[in-house]
Amino acid sequence: MCYGCDNSKNQLSSIIAPSILSANFTTLGQDVSKLFLNNSDWIHIDIMDGHFVPNISIGLPVIQQLRELLPDSKRFFFDCHMMVSEPERWVEQVANFGGSQFTFHYESTTNPTELIALIKKNGMKAGCALKPKSVVDDKFLKIVDSLDMVLIMTVEPGFGGQKFMKDMMPKVRKLRARFPKLNIQVDGGLTQETVVAAGEAGANVIVAGTSVFKAKNQAETIQLLRNEVEKNIRPKL
Ligand code: DX5
Ligand code: ZN
Repeated sequence: MCYGCDNSKNQLSSIIAPSILSANFTTLGQDVSKLFLNNSDWIHIDIMDGHFVPNISIGLPVIQQLRELLPDSKRFFFDCHMMVSEPERWVEQVANFGGSQFTFHYESTTNPTELIALIKKNGMKAGCALKPKSVVDDKFLKIVDSLDMVLIMTVEPGFGGQKFMKDMMPKVRKLRARFPKLNIQVDGGLTQETVVAAGEAGANVIVAGTSVFKAKNQAETIQLLRNEVEKNIRPKL
């Protein structure tokens, strides 16, 4: 089953996905419950292996424990950003532990088409991420039709708290022009200021770690991020 997938409507909508990499891991359960109370649509779970990226973060049992912890937990969408080599190895386990979407890195696999099929066979949505140096070329565009989401990284993956790379926006624009209904996610350095450029370019799924967790008023910050996205998608509905 795909947990929380009923929430991902068939129509383009604003989706705010706070990254729990910026949470306090000693109180992670409470932090995540609070995110949903404050109207987060998804949570973004950054899985790193210390090989594909130079950092180690959260492991798969955390997905499982969060899924078990949340009351009525089937409602919640867990967006798993897999910054790992050999992503194929982890699809089944992420699905069994309660992941809703499995976003692999285009750079981490030699056979994205097969991997997308495997993710879907395991009942999850399939996302594909591009590192800053990777381009949206014809070869990449060929796989987009089979994806539920494309993630355009706006920092080098591996760490929270980095500066938003505005020069990634042409990639977002190019995708939005060709795929009006596609979920396009941006991840890295998103704040109330930088979300303006992301929204204008056509991103509708906003990952935000530092800005949501350091916010004085978390609910208000989430709402402000959402408003910026909606400004741009409303006229297109
Ligand atoms: C970076 C991660 C991001 C990160 C974003 O590799 O993929 O999800 O947590 O954090 P901020 O919003 O602080 O840049
Ligand atoms: Zn991420």
